[in-house]
Amino acid sequence: MPSYEPAPVPGTDLGAPPYIDCQDLFKIYKIANLEVVALRGLDLKVRRGEMMAIVGASGSGKSTLLNVLAGLDQPSAGRAFVGGRDLLTMSGGEMVEYRRTQVGFVWQQTGRNLVPYLNAVQNVEVPMILAGMSRSAARERATELLEAVKLEHRLHHNPNQLSGGEQQRVSIAVALANNPPLLLADEPTGELDSVGAGIVFELFGELNRRYGVTIVIVTHDPDIAARVDRVAAIRDGRTSTEIFRRIRTEGNEAKVTHDEYVLVDAAGRLQIPREFLDRLNIHDRAKVLMGEGRLEVLPEHLARGQGERR
Ligand SMILES: Nc1ncnc2c1ncn2[C@@H]1O[C@H](COP(=O)(O)OP(=O)(O)OP(=O)(O)O)[C@@H](O)[C@H]1O
Ligand SMILES: [Mg+2]
Repeated sequence: MPSYEPAPVPGTDLGAPPYIDCQDLFKIYKIANLEVVALRGLDLKVRRGEMMAIVGASGSGKSTLLNVLAGLDQPSAGRAFVGGRDLLTMSGGEMVEYRRTQVGFVWQQTGRNLVPYLNAVQNVEVPMILAGMSRSAARERATELLEAVKLEHRLHHNPNQLSGGEQQRVSIAVALANNPPLLLADEPTGELDSVGAGIVFELFGELNRRYGVTIVIVTHDPDIAARVDRVAAIRDGRTSTEIFRRIRTEGNEAKVTHDEYVLVDAAGRLQIPREFLDRLNIHDRAKVLMGEGRLEVLPEHLARGQGERR
């Protein structure tokens, strides 16, 4: 019989509190008189040392969430903790310190991550020198980081002398310069072909294993579920479903399968996949019945006469 080893479910290890803990998080942007609700009651827990991905349609709130976690944007309401720090009540000074020491960020646009007139090693040195490290120590660590991202042969190339994938690897080294426990990446492979994207994802995996960095990646990559521990989908500013990677061993062979779950928040809300609602013709309301060890959701017309409804 094949043995089955479930992946640990993040946020449920009783010993350790989650490293990232967002509950009922809201972000409302105001432009003139118009309000845009970019996050509407989002829940997310991420374990320390986890590597996970966030997917979702354009405009669903992915970048907004990442900017909040990066300390670049303050949430409007709810709870957001990273490593025990409360992102809603941090002062301006604490936010600057948080951004400098606690998070590394990689943007989709390669050009946004790097200073164009500095070479690779100088780009990686900048954040360390700004943090007060001596030039010689910064040079040594920058060289090590560029070796870690397999660019030791490109130390003195400027960004325009590097391929898109190489530029993103320099960007990752820059993001890791001050040794942050958290690495956030917003569509880091958006401008790369599938080979370049594969190399960048492999690198994330290696850095995650080697340094224990917690990594959250926003991506549209269709193969992402095979590359990370967990994929959370965001719909309309809320996390809706999660896919976990499971490893089954059959004899000597390890097989990877994926399990999809619907998330249930503290208030008992869940999002039923649109295609199920459409198929069952469920619109404004449905009947929830307790079945044998399960809940059943019935469309209104089938529910009449069942339960207490008459
Ligand atoms: N600075 C801002 N001011 C006003 N509205 C904003 C701002 N940033 C984002 N929004 C709005 O908030 C919503 C969520 O945007 P967000 O950038 O988080 O989406 P996304 O999931 O990252 O999309 P994409 O996949 O296209 O990058 C969108 O409706 C967007 O128009
Ligand atoms: Mg975005």
